[in-house]
Amino acid sequence: MNQIFSARLSDTSDAINSALEHILSDDARSGEQVRPPRLMAAMRHGVLNGGKRLRPFLMVECAALFGVARDEVVQAACALECLHCYSLVHDDLPAMDDDDLRRGKPTVHRAYDEATAILAGDGLLTLAFDLVADPTTVSSSAIRAELAHLLARAAGVGGMIGGQMLDLMAEGDALDESDIRILQSMKTGALIRYACEAGAVLGGASGQQRADLVRFGETIGLAFQLADDLLDVTSSEEAMGKAVGKDAVRGKGTLVGIRGTGKVREMLKSLLAEAEGSLTRFGEEASVLRDAAHYVVARNN
Ligand code: IPE
Ligand code: IPE
Ligand code: MG
Ligand code: MG
Ligand code: MG
Repeated sequence: MNQIFSARLSDTSDAINSALEHILSDDARSGEQVRPPRLMAAMRHGVLNGGKRLRPFLMVECAALFGVARDEVVQAACALECLHCYSLVHDDLPAMDDDDLRRGKPTVHRAYDEATAILAGDGLLTLAFDLVADPTTVSSSAIRAELAHLLARAAGVGGMIGGQMLDLMAEGDALDESDIRILQSMKTGALIRYACEAGAVLGGASGQQRADLVRFGETIGLAFQLADDLLDVTSSEEAMGKAVGKDAVRGKGTLVGIRGTGKVREMLKSLLAEAEGSLTRFGEEASVLRDAAHYVVARNN
C-alpha cells in the first residue's frame, strides 16, 4: 500500500470511528425515550469492532474530487457504515451464514443472543436513515432526500437484501457466471456503488462525472466480492478475522467455485484496468481512488 493512500485510509477510519462512537452512545436523542443499554452495547459490538471502513473512505474520496472536506461527508459516510454493519450482523446469524467470528471477535449473536443481534441489526438499519435525514448531515434537504432514495435502492430488495436472498437461494444450485455476477453486484456491489455515487452527489458532480464514479463503484464492487471469495479459499481465519473455507462447504455461488482461483485472478486484473479507465476524466486528482482500486484487488483481509 502506498504511504499517501494508507495515511488517508487510516485518517478517515479514525474520523469515522470517533463519529460512530458518538452516534452509538447510550444518550437518548430528541424524540427518543431511552436507548436500552444492552441494545446499544450490541450495536457498538457490531460496529466498533475494527472494520476496514472502505465504504466511508470511498464516499469521502469521491466527494474530495469536488473539493468537499472530509468533515462534511463523515456523517453521511457513518450512515452507510451503520447499514453495512447491519448487513454483516444479519449475514452472520445462524439462519444465514451461521458464523461465530467477525473482525476477529465473536459475532453479535454469539456475544449477546440471536434476538438481540436481530434487533441490533434493525437498529443500525434504521439509524442509517435517521443519519441521512438529519439536517446536520447536509444542509440541503434536496440532497438528503436524494441520498435517502439512493441508499434505500442500494440496500433494498433490488440491491443488497435482494442479493442476500439470491445468495441463500443459490446454496447448492449450479449458477452460471452471469447469475453470479448479478447476485454479487446486488449483495456487495450496490453499497459500494452507493458510496461512490453519494460522494458525487455531495460534491455536486456533473452527469458525466457522476456516471464515471458510478461505473468505478460498480467495477470495484464486483472486484471486492471476487477478492472476498478468493480470500475465502486462499487466506486464513487469522488474517481475515472471520472463518474461511466456508463458501465451498455451503455450496455458495461464487466465480471461484465455477472458474477457479487462476481465472478469478485474471478477472480481478481486468476489473482493475476497467476501474482505472472509469477515472480517466479526473486525471491526477483521482490518484487516491486508483490506489483504492488496487487495494481492493490486492487486499489480504
Ligand atoms: C465484508 O465486507 C462483507 C462483504 C461484502 C464481502 P468488508 O470486507 O468490507 O468488511 P469489514 O467492514 O472490513 O469488516
Ligand atoms: C456478505 O457476503 C455480503 C453482505 C453482508 C451483504 P459474504 O457472506 O461473503 O460476507 P462474509 O464473507 O461473511 O464477510
Ligand atoms: Mg453471506
Ligand atoms: Mg457471510
Ligand atoms: Mg465471504
